[in-house]
Amino acid sequence: MIKTKDIIDEKDKRIRKISKEVTFPLDEKTIKTIKDSEEMLRLSQIDEEAKKYDLRPGMGLSAIQLGIDDRWFVIVYEVEDGKFENYVVINPKIISQSEEMIYVEEGEGCLSVNRPVEGIVPRNARISVEFYDMDGKLQKKRFREELSIVFQHELDHLNGILFVDRIDKKNPYKNADIYRAI
Ligand code: NI
Repeated sequence: MIKTKDIIDEKDKRIRKISKEVTFPLDEKTIKTIKDSEEMLRLSQIDEEAKKYDLRPGMGLSAIQLGIDDRWFVIVYEVEDGKFENYVVINPKIISQSEEMIYVEEGEGCLSVNRPVEGIVPRNARISVEFYDMDGKLQKKRFREELSIVFQHELDHLNGILFVDRIDKKNPYKNADIYRAI
């Protein structure tokens, strides 16, 4: 099982690495790490489990956050109370995006950023993406709202970018009145 101490912090230089394309078939170790990541994210979103295992709640985790520079990430999204949808995303690409920009009103979070951060992170409200699943099958999907934000956040990780980099340094709340808060 993945524990909090296995997740690297922003102070660790590896978080800035640009991850490499994944080749198929996946090896056993990668499959296990992906499954463990899904399990950790699911448990982290269930209060009593999060407390029990000392996990910060998170919806997404990229391989690089475990120190692995492969282009994959996992999203575990709570569709309704206690019901989760998992996405294993390998070698992702954004094909198109909406002009409309949104941001998380209470601010974005990241399991690798362990400090309070002020400001908004502008993200495209909708994106069309392509990626490979664990079987190496090409998937084409559209994401909107929260899932669109998480996808963009995780894809940034594969390029060594953290959400804090996307906050305007001089005016952290720049365009908060123009973009839509969710
Ligand atoms: Ni993150």
